[in-house]
Formats: sequence, structure tokens, C-alpha cells
Amino acid sequence: MQPHSIISELEQKRDRARQGGGSTRIEAQHQKGKLTARERIEVLLDPDSFEEYDMFVEHRCIQFGMEENHVPGDGVVSGHGTINGRLVFVYSQDFTVLGGSLSETNAQKVCKILDMAMKVGAPVVGLLDSGGARIQEGVDSLAGFAEIFQRNVLASGVIPQISVILGPCAGGAVYSPALTDFIIMTRGTSYMFVTGPEVVKTVTHEIVTQEDLGGADVHTHKTGVADLAYNNDIEALLQVRRLFNFLPLNNRDGVPYRPTPDPADRVEMSLNTLVPENPNKAYNIRELIERVVDEGDFFEIQPDYAKNIMIGFGRMEGHTVGFVANQPMQLAGCLDIDASRKSARFVRFCDAFNIPIVTFVDVPGFLPGTHQEHNGVIKHGAKLLYAYAEATVPKITVITRKAYGGAYDVMSSKHLRGDVNYAWPSAEIAVMGPKGAVEIIFRGKYKDEEEMQKLIDDYRARFASPFIAASRGYVDDVIRPQNTRWRICRSLAILRNKKLENPWKKHDNLPL
Ligand code: HXC
Repeated sequence: MQPHSIISELEQKRDRARQGGGSTRIEAQHQKGKLTARERIEVLLDPDSFEEYDMFVEHRCIQFGMEENHVPGDGVVSGHGTINGRLVFVYSQDFTVLGGSLSETNAQKVCKILDMAMKVGAPVVGLLDSGGARIQEGVDSLAGFAEIFQRNVLASGVIPQISVILGPCAGGAVYSPALTDFIIMTRGTSYMFVTGPEVVKTVTHEIVTQEDLGGADVHTHKTGVADLAYNNDIEALLQVRRLFNFLPLNNRDGVPYRPTPDPADRVEMSLNTLVPENPNKAYNIRELIERVVDEGDFFEIQPDYAKNIMIGFGRMEGHTVGFVANQPMQLAGCLDIDASRKSARFVRFCDAFNIPIVTFVDVPGFLPGTHQEHNGVIKHGAKLLYAYAEATVPKITVITRKAYGGAYDVMSSKHLRGDVNYAWPSAEIAVMGPKGAVEIIFRGKYKDEEEMQKLIDDYRARFASPFIAASRGYVDDVIRPQNTRWRICRSLAILRNKKLENPWKKHDNLPL
């Protein structure tokens, strides 16, 4: 039996730590529409599942009066818990304690979480809300950041890492989330930038607000730095729980399984009329994904960035699958720099964590233009090609309509080790579209528009179909759209024990 005084001291210390920076600062946090570090953990994790570490850790700084300014926990709350019963490690920066700034000891707490998560093979969720390096600590704080970066890098591809930006995240501090797999932001209360508005004004004379420089909309629409944005902390944290449910715990564990009442052999007649008869008319590829996945449950990643390609997670027969799909409603589904970068990173995430990839193809080619060429579409497009080519997870491809030129090759073609490649009867697989082809091969050989149209119709009839590719074995079968779900489910089932290894190398040299 412990002496009563020790027990009460323990309780007092715990109470003190739970108060963080005190009621005034907590009130200020709430006034900004933000939750506290502990409240956020409560929303993120299953009830009563959180076990805290290092509640009594204090900084060791004796500069600038810091010896008088100690708060147990030192500005970050850390530990582990569960999301829907599955283990997760979490750290949550406490803005009410010295602005959530990162000290030597605060960084050690984060590193401990990352090290534990790596040892046991569980994901890490970081909840970020911090003024950056603890200014009073100088280089010790910078060292702390770099210790975290190093761990983020080693953990990459081993355990999923999710960063939720719920307040300031500035300077070099942005590089920890940038190294993780997913970044989620809140609108109006979070921002990320390397140099803030004041420095920007001094150096470039531009006047810009924090929101316009690095708010959630900037990063989800323009830069693609962040994957998802939500209106407030609660919405964001609940969506992190949803995302987490799709993810494996680590790179050896295999994808999670959730039983579903949705039959694998469900026939979806409505898909037969999804592709319009006019090849230049758009349709929404999201409809195809939603009608194919279990219970229509599709979690889209980066919905506001490079909308010409759609990526996200769904389940087939209860198992997580990554979907990549050209979106004909945006830029006619062309591949461009942003779409290539977005989808390449997603394909690599899926491959790293053994998540099978289903690709829906309707792509007229790469987007032409000086903007694309001068900004390096060659190298960026190569990223997607590279990602598909190196991926060893099960890869299933369905060509719904256009698959032209280099983009046909890139989009998980048979030649890049696609395991099962299907085409719908509406598929057009060729070097280029009929009009472009006729303009080149019959240049100067047709009298008028009418004759040209005849040549186009003839080309379309002969080449713009799935059957030439099928006759070569480049597509394994031409399937009726209504059967897409069960054909994919059956293919995934036979591929569940797929084994394929790439040649040994120290690491690859993908076109960065
Ligand atoms: C120590 C800090 C701090 C920091 C904030 N605080 N940032 N303490 N180190 N970096 C403290 C404040 O003194 C204040 O303490 C409390 O946190 C809340 O800050 P406020 O300024 O009152 O809050 P707000 O008005 O909301 O402004 C938030 C802020 C601002 C925009 C983040 O605090 C700010 O600009 N902080 C400095 C940011 C910065 O320059 N950081 C270094 C970046 S360089 P009290 O006691 O009053 O509550 C960097 C390098 C990393 O991070 C390199 C890694 C490679």
C-alpha cells in the first residue's frame, strides 16, 4: 500500500498537467473555435482507450526566465489508444502551453511515440497546433525537429502516419507533416507555410494573409500539400477515424477486413448506360466507383486537387482497395502534372502497405501546352508510370472508354504488370483519337470535311475499340459494364496470395 501523501501528490500532479496552460488560455483556444489538445484526443480515440505517456516531463531550459515557467507535459500530450478497437499512437500539441512550441523535451516525447509505434507496428496520428521551435531553447529545439524528421522518414512505408493541422504550423515545422502520408487541415483555424506573411512582406513586398498564404483551401486546391480540409476540429477528427478504418496497421499486417452485407456478385445494370454514346460527352467516374465498392462507401483523397484524376479508398468484399480513376468531367480526364503527382503518390502508398489497386481508365492522353511542357510534365508524368511499374500489389484495370497514347501505357496497362486488365465494349484503345489520327495519316489526301468524316468513321470502326487490344491479349477480357463489381471481386480474390518481388536494390531512383 502506497503512503497516502504520494497518491495525493500523484493526483495533484496529474491535475496540474491536465490544466495545460490554464483556464484563460483554454478559453482563448475555445474562442478561436478550436478544441484543446486533450479534447481532440477524446474525439479521435475510442472512449477511455487513451493511455498517456510522459505526463510529468518538463523542459530543462534556464534561459529567458524559463526556469520559472514549467508546465508538466511541456506542451504536448502523447500516448496510445484505439480507433474502432485498433491500436494507434497519438501526440497532440498543446497550444495553451507556450504556444505548443517544440522544445528539446517536447520533441523527445514525440520521438518516443514514433519509436514505440515502429516497434509494435501501429500508425501514428499527430495533432499539430504550434508556434514552431521553442524560441527560448534555440538550437536544442531545432535538434528536436530534426530528430522527429529522421523518424518520420524511417517510418515512411512501415507504418501509416497522419498529420492533422489544427492551428499554426510554420517554418521548418511544416516538414514533419510533409514527410507523413496524409495531411488534414481545418478551414479558418489552421495554416502551413515555410515563411509567414511578415517575412514575405519584408522580402518580396507582397501583402498576404495567413489564410491566403497557407490556409486549408490553398493547400487542398492549389498546392496539393494537404489532402483534405474540414470546417472544424470535430469534423476533421471524425474523418480521420474514417480514414484510419481503411488503413493497415503497418506494412506487414495486410489490409483490414470489415464484413459487408453487399454481395460480391451484385450486378449493377445502371453501369450499362454510364458511358454516353457521344465519345466527347463527359460522365462522372465517381458513379462507377460508388456503384462498384461495398455499400457505396468511397473515401476520396485530395478531392479538390487535380480533379481530372480521382483517388481514394473503398472496400471490395470487405477488404480495403485503392481506386485510381480518370475523371472525364475535368479536362476530359487528361493526365497532367498535378494529376500525375497526386496519383503517383497514392499508388506508392497503396503499394507500400499492400493495398490492391483498381484503376478505371478513360484518358484521352496527356494535356498539351507550354505550361505543361515547361513545368516538366515529362518528369512528373514519369512518376505515375514509375509508381505503377514498380508496384507489386494486385493491380486490376478496367478501361471504360478512351485509352490513348502514352496515357494508355501509364494507366496500369498490361505491360506495366497489370494482373487483370478488362475493357468495356465502349473502350477505344489506340495511339490517338480518330480525328487526330486521320489528320496525320491522311494529311492532304481528303477533299473536304465529308470525306474526312468518312475516314474518321472508318478509323473509329477499325481501331477505336477494345478488340484489337483484346486480340493481342493486352486486355484479358471485354466485360459487360453491369458485371464490373463481381469481375473485380473475383480477380481480387484470386490475387490475394499474389507474390511478386522487384530486383534487390539499395533503393530506387524515381524521377523526383
Ligand atoms: C515559445 C511561443 C512560441 C515559440 C508562441 N509562443 N510561439 N513560445 N516559442 N515559437 C507563446 C507566446 O509567447 C504566447 O505565450 C503563447 O505562445 C501564445 O502565442 P500568441 O502569440 O499569444 O498567440 P497568437 O496570437 O495566436 O499567435 C500564434 C503565433 C505567434 C502566430 C504562432 O505566437 C507566433 O508568431 N509565434 C512565433 C512563431 C515563430 O516564429 N516560431 C519559430 C518559427 S521557426 P503566453 O505566455 O503569452 O501565452 C521554426 C523553425 C523550425 O519553427 C525549424 C525546424 C527545422
